[in-house]
Amino acid sequence: MRIPDETITEIIERTDIGDYISRYVPLKRAGSVLSGSCPFHSERTPSFTVFPNTKSYYCFGCGAGGNIIGFAMAINGLDYVEALRLLAKETGVPIPESSEEKSFGIKKARIYEANKEAARFFHQSLMGEKGKSALNYLTNRGLTLTTIKRFGIGYAPDSWSALYDLLKSKGFTDEEVDVAFLCKKGKNGKMYDIFRNRIAFPLISTTGEVLGFSARRLNENDDRKYVNTSDTPVFKKSKFVFALNMAKAHSATELIMCEGCVDAIALHQAGFDGAVATLGTAITPEQSRTLAKYTKKIYLCYDSDTAGQTAAEKGIKLLAQLGISSKVVKVTNAKDPDEYIKKYGAESFRKLLQGANGEIDFLISKTVGNLDISISENKLKAVSDVCELLASLDTLAEREIYSERAAKMLGVSKDAITEGIRRRRKNLERKGKKEFDKKEMLRTMGAGDKVNKDKLSMPGEALLEEKLLGILMIQPELYKFAEGRINESIFFTEFGKKVFSVFKNDFESGTEPIISNESLTAEETSSIARMIAVRQSHGDNTKEAVLKLTEALEDKKRKSDADKAISDADEDSRGEALKNYIDSIKKNKK
Ligand code: UTP
Ligand code: MN
Repeated sequence: MRIPDETITEIIERTDIGDYISRYVPLKRAGSVLSGSCPFHSERTPSFTVFPNTKSYYCFGCGAGGNIIGFAMAINGLDYVEALRLLAKETGVPIPESSEEKSFGIKKARIYEANKEAARFFHQSLMGEKGKSALNYLTNRGLTLTTIKRFGIGYAPDSWSALYDLLKSKGFTDEEVDVAFLCKKGKNGKMYDIFRNRIAFPLISTTGEVLGFSARRLNENDDRKYVNTSDTPVFKKSKFVFALNMAKAHSATELIMCEGCVDAIALHQAGFDGAVATLGTAITPEQSRTLAKYTKKIYLCYDSDTAGQTAAEKGIKLLAQLGISSKVVKVTNAKDPDEYIKKYGAESFRKLLQGANGEIDFLISKTVGNLDISISENKLKAVSDVCELLASLDTLAEREIYSERAAKMLGVSKDAITEGIRRRRKNLERKGKKEFDKKEMLRTMGAGDKVNKDKLSMPGEALLEEKLLGILMIQPELYKFAEGRINESIFFTEFGKKVFSVFKNDFESGTEPIISNESLTAEETSSIARMIAVRQSHGDNTKEAVLKLTEALEDKKRKSDADKAISDADEDSRGEALKNYIDSIKKNKK
């Protein structure tokens, strides 16, 4: 049993889409719509639009669009049912219990269970006889027993099937342990453990489930330093933030982002409750959205190598887009925070945090840093680079503040910087608009339209359909003026036919349709949101427009029917088919 349609409709109706989306994106009202900068791609000119009337949203920049459920899915990285549950909670709409239980992935629950068993097993192994040298390794690295317990750190024994045998005895199937990324089937057909002779750091969600493991080798001769759980139904590396559960439990308001889990653990042990980590990668957009839910301030504390610094730079930009200010911590004379704490202690690290550069300062000094600006050519280049950088700031206030600082650092007048920024912003705007026009045109022509596959072969027809459907979605009361002429048969593309049939009842009764995901996929919903968005911004949504479009579709239909009749007909009757077609046109003209 699935979640009943009425429940879904009620959730959509009760959610104020404008209010909801404003929590993630600052929106400005413009007539009947709201607009702002798209949370799904980075942009300078706002092309993200929310339509409270149709309860939908659409980004003219990247094409993301749909209803509130799709938005909740995309912004929180949830699946359909999870998003519904979240919205249900917020709106107070009850989800009938039986339907919830059954549709909310049985698989997932099993994976959580298997992971929990594995974590317990690894931890016991670490504390047992076989885990002695592993435990030694950890204590040698400075971790205390308390820390080891708090983080549930474990040891995956040097065995091909210790975990597998245990899980099997607990009733887990081969498929379950395979999907959980705990065991795999070998060439000989036997299942074997993925994590062997490694320290296993459990990856725990903010709600306390074990999602997977990051496992470090103990034998330096092993190929891979770390083996991490690859993406499973419950784990996605690009979305996961290590130790965020701990930071959350401590209500840490400032997070310290590290590159590896050992760093985060070492920082926690030293009293830094906000330490978190990605698993060796730069912050992804998904992670930055997760972080944005917990904090407005982040210290980026990456390794001191180039990779780490590049990652910091990327992180700054992503976080800034979500209104999180970040500071870059320069770890000096040590390769990473873990090593630093061990060498210099917590107090020194605290000083590093205090001395951390604000994001723009970091970027300016990085831009200027590589150049000897006593040479005038270098100075010109530095000014140009800094202007480029500052031009990308969204608010005038920020641009002002940093222009002043940059002018001082570079020894030029503030006016020179201001002028440089102005020129670049103008170029950016021009470029942005061009790109936008080009993309929208390509989309309109159907390039890359995965939803409406017929669009490429019949772009003209598809465009007429979209216009007509778009108007009807906004003004369903206009449907009746076509006096029954609008029905499935006047649509050419499969998608057009489908959209019409899904909303037919609404058109007939003149009630504004709610784009529900039930019979439509997320992509389809997004395409519909686009049709609506284009009409909303276009404006000519009149009875006349409906009639004109209907007629244009009918014309095309007659022509294609005739084409077909003529090509089907044999030599002799071809003339007659042509005559019939001409007659039909004449009749219609009267
Ligand atoms: P590092 O090589 O900096 O490891 O990789 P580390 O955290 O300092 O580990 P120790 O101190 O030597 O034990 C940083 C992170 O990158 C990921 C891991 O998550 C690691 O914590 N990584 C690294 C991998 O996923 N695979 C690798 O082979 C190496
Ligand atoms: Mn390290």
